[in-house]
Amino acid sequence: MKIDILSLFPDMFSGPLHQSIVGKAIDDKLLDIQVTNFRDYATNKHRNVDDYPYGGGAGMLLQAQPIFDALAAVEHANQDLPKGRVIILDPGGKPFDQKMAESFAHEAHLTFICGHYEGYDERIKTLATDEVSLGDYVLTGGELAAMVMIDATVRLLPGVLGNEASAPGDSFSTGLLEYPQYSRPADFRGMKVPEVLLNGNHQLIAQWRRKEALKRTYLKRPDLLKKIKLEKSDWELLAD
Ligand code: ADE
Repeated sequence: MKIDILSLFPDMFSGPLHQSIVGKAIDDKLLDIQVTNFRDYATNKHRNVDDYPYGGGAGMLLQAQPIFDALAAVEHANQDLPKGRVIILDPGGKPFDQKMAESFAHEAHLTFICGHYEGYDERIKTLATDEVSLGDYVLTGGELAAMVMIDATVRLLPGVLGNEASAPGDSFSTGLLEYPQYSRPADFRGMKVPEVLLNGNHQLIAQWRRKEALKRTYLKRPDLLKKIKLEKSDWELLAD
C-alpha cells in the first residue's frame, strides 16, 4: 500500500509511524508512506497557506491553491497506481470506525489531507472521496487523526500482523466487543481463570467466548448491538 499525507507539519509523522507494527510494515516494504508539506506548493511570495474567511468571522482558513497543487503533484507521482481514496480529515466528517478501516485496507493508494487553523476553504472538499472525523472533539489539526486511521488500516493489511488470525477476532470486526482473555498463571492472587478455558473443549470455549462477548457488549456498548443481527444461537446462549 502507498500512503501519501499532505500536512504543514511533516515532522509529526517521523516518529510514530516508524515504530512497532507500522514501522515493520514499512521495513518489510508492505507499506510506503510519503509526507508532503503543502506549504512547498504555495505560490505567493511569503508561502502563506491560509487567509481570512469571506464574510468575516474568527480565524483563518486553508486556501485552495496549495492543496490543489500539492495533490496534483502527488497524483502525478502515483499515476501507475489505481486511483485510490483522498481522505480529508475534518471534525465535521463521517466518524471513523473499523468498517472504514477495512474499506481503506482494500485500496492500493490512500492520500490523507490534514487541515490546521480553523478549517478549509470549502472548495478543497471537492478533492476528497471521503471526509472523515476521528470523533466528536476538535483536535489542533488532522495529523493525529490521520495517524490513528493509518495505524488501524495498516494492521489489517495481509502479512502485517504476525498472527494472521488475530485481526478477524478483534473488537468491532465481529460487531461485538472482544471476549475476556487470560494468560498464565491459572490462579493469580486468588483471581482464577474461568474453568471452561482450561479444559480444552474447543466447542465449549467458543460458546463461552461468544456469550461473554455478547454480555460485555450489552453492558458496555449496547449501541453496537443495534448495528448487528444476532443469530438464533446467540439468543439461546443468552437465555442459558
Ligand atoms: N481535525 C480537527 N479535529 C479533527 C477530528 N476530530 N477528526 C479529524 N480531523 C480533525
